[in-house]
Amino acid sequence: MCTIGLGLAALGRPEYLNIRSAVSIDKSEAAFKENAFLVLDKAYACGVRFFDTAPSYGKGESFLQEWNASRKHADVVFSSKWGYTYVANWKLGFLGPHEVKEHSLQKLKEQWQVTQDLLPKLKVYQIHSATFESAVLQNTAVLQHLFQLKKEFGLQIGLTVSGPRQKELLLEASELCLENAPLFDSFQVTYNLFEQAAFEVLKQLKGAGRFLIVKEGLANGRVFLPTKTRKTLEGLALKYQVGIDAIALRFCMDALGPNVVLSGAASAAQLTQNLCALNFQLTPSEIEQLKGAKMPTETYWHERSRLPWG
Ligand SMILES: NC(=O)c1ccc[n+]([C@@H]2O[C@H](COP(=O)([O-])OP(=O)(O)OC[C@H]3O[C@@H](n4cnc5c(N)ncnc54)[C@H](OP(=O)(O)O)[C@@H]3O)[C@@H](O)[C@H]2O)c1
Repeated sequence: MCTIGLGLAALGRPEYLNIRSAVSIDKSEAAFKENAFLVLDKAYACGVRFFDTAPSYGKGESFLQEWNASRKHADVVFSSKWGYTYVANWKLGFLGPHEVKEHSLQKLKEQWQVTQDLLPKLKVYQIHSATFESAVLQNTAVLQHLFQLKKEFGLQIGLTVSGPRQKELLLEASELCLENAPLFDSFQVTYNLFEQAAFEVLKQLKGAGRFLIVKEGLANGRVFLPTKTRKTLEGLALKYQVGIDAIALRFCMDALGPNVVLSGAASAAQLTQNLCALNFQLTPSEIEQLKGAKMPTETYWHERSRLPWG
């Protein structure tokens, strides 16, 4: 069964990929922490049990850790990542990349020192945005270290992928074995109305019992923009009495059937709207109609690369 999890990318740092016109909000760390706890509490109250974070989400890991320590929920599950460092340091309007990638053994060891505080709720540990360029799938020392962590802490080892070569990366990673068993148990991937290029590979992985996590189910908010699919989305939103966001997330759930679709809600109100996706199911003909919204993968990623951080 597919569930909705909560990702902390928009909750742990003051600036992130943004689509909608700027809303004036308090961007202090204290205000972000208060909002993050509000959203986490709302999520838990609504039945969300899966939470995804990363060191590069600013305070994402520490907010989750503090929330967990104070709430003591027995039934929550966390995933986190290694490989990106948050360098914007809460400076508003920071010029240049806010997160820097480094897929070295040293970075893995350094970030694990902090991330391990999320144990024993931490169940999935992922390479953050594996690419062919970072050659992380060829880095034997890194792979061996992940294998050790897997054995020592009973973790599921995963990777997240982005970009036009998601499909090839997923295939290569899924075939990687250590001591005659696949290293990677979990795959976090971009799949949504507009980007469906990895569909066949993902179906195969799911069929083989691998754990699938969908990220960017709202295409970072691009589903709200006036596209050729907008009218269809509005029609379905009216039919099911939900927002466009719930239709877009439900599409990910019904078309692909992953284990988890992440909500990237930035507020409790957005989360409430996202979670309406749990209350209905699209018909097969509606799923087929929405599959028609896909765009060429190169175009999708080109547009994404031009989204502003704000
Ligand atoms: N591994 C990776 O490389 C990677 C990359 C990206 C994401 N992720 C994971 O996936 C999670 C979700 O992805 P995401 O946050 O990038 O993408 P998303 O779910 O596609 O988009 C989230 C954005 O959509 C907007 N939104 C959501 N609900 C809304 C509503 N009801 N009304 C209006 N706007 C709404 C918000 O934008 P505004 O902030 O503009 O309001 C929010 O920040 C992340 O939190 C993270 O855990 C992983």
